[in-house]
Amino acid sequence: MYYPDKIQAYLTHISETRSPVEDRLKRNILKYGLWLLAIPAIIYGAADRGWAAFSTAAVNPRDISYCLIALVLLLGWVCIGLAEDHLDSIALAEAELARADALAVESSCVAQQCYRLPYPYLCQIYHLLNVGHLESIHRFSLGNLKVIKISDFRKTEAGGQIRFKTMLDSPMNILRLWRNPSVEVELTIHSPHQIELKVPAYGQRFIHVLFSVMPLNDKEHYLSIQMFSDLQWPRELLKAVLIVAASLTLLEDLPYLHHLAKRNYDGLFSPRPRPQKTSQAKQLFYRYVDLYNNRWNSRQLQLLD
Ligand SMILES: [Fe+2]
Repeated sequence: MYYPDKIQAYLTHISETRSPVEDRLKRNILKYGLWLLAIPAIIYGAADRGWAAFSTAAVNPRDISYCLIALVLLLGWVCIGLAEDHLDSIALAEAELARADALAVESSCVAQQCYRLPYPYLCQIYHLLNVGHLESIHRFSLGNLKVIKISDFRKTEAGGQIRFKTMLDSPMNILRLWRNPSVEVELTIHSPHQIELKVPAYGQRFIHVLFSVMPLNDKEHYLSIQMFSDLQWPRELLKAVLIVAASLTLLEDLPYLHHLAKRNYDGLFSPRPRPQKTSQAKQLFYRYVDLYNNRWNSRQLQLLD
C-alpha cells in the first residue's frame, strides 16, 4: 500500500538537523553494531561450508577452502577490530588522572569516549547521581532493569558511595551475557568532576565505568566515559559491546538532559532545607551538594572572568 503522507513524514524526520553528538552516537551504534553482527554471519558461513564439505562421501576441497577463508577472516575481524574516532581531551586534576591510572592497573581500559554536550555541567551531575533514572530513562537499553533497594551509603572525604541492588527480571535481557540477574552496584563520587559506576560481572570480575565531567562554559560540558574491565573476553569484542551500550544509554539521556537544562537546575543544587525523611536514593546527591555547591558557584565566576 502506498502512503505518501507517511513517506513524506519519514523523509522530513530523517532530514531534520540534529546535534553533532546525536549524529555521532547513532554512527557509533551503527558502526559497532554492524561489526558485531558480522561475527555470527561469518561463523554461519564457515559452519555452512564446513558442513557442506564433509556431509558427502567425497570431500569437496572448494568448500573446505571457503570454510578456512571464513575462519581466517573471523580471526582477523575479531583481533583487529575497528579504529576509534579521534577523542577530545579534557583537563583533569592530577588526582582524577590517578584514579583512571589505578583502575587501569586493576583491570584494563577497554574503551574510552568523550563528548561535548550542549547542556550545563550540573545537569550531567544530577543525572549521574539520580539512580531512579536507570528504571525510567533507560528502560529500553537496560531491558527493564529494576533498582530493588539502596543497601548502603557512606561518606568519604571527597564524596561518598552508595550500593544498590539491581534485578534483571527478563530471561532474555542481554545484560545476562556478563552479569547475574541480581547484583549490587556501587556508585561513587571521587571528586566534583568524577563519578564511578562499578558493576559486578560473572566470576568475581567487574566492569567499571568512570565518568569525568568538565564544565566548558555555563551551557556546555565535556563528558568522558572510560570503561575498564577484567573480563576475559576478546578485547575488541568487549570494546564494541561496551561502546554500543554506552552510546545507546547516552542517546537515551539526551532528552532527559535537555529537560533538566530547562528546569531551574541551580535550585536543585541549593543547600535549602530538605524533607526530614530523605529518600535513600538521594543521599549521594545531597552529599555532593553539601560538599561542592560553593565550588560550582566559584567555577562559574572563573568562567565569566
Ligand atoms: Fe543515564
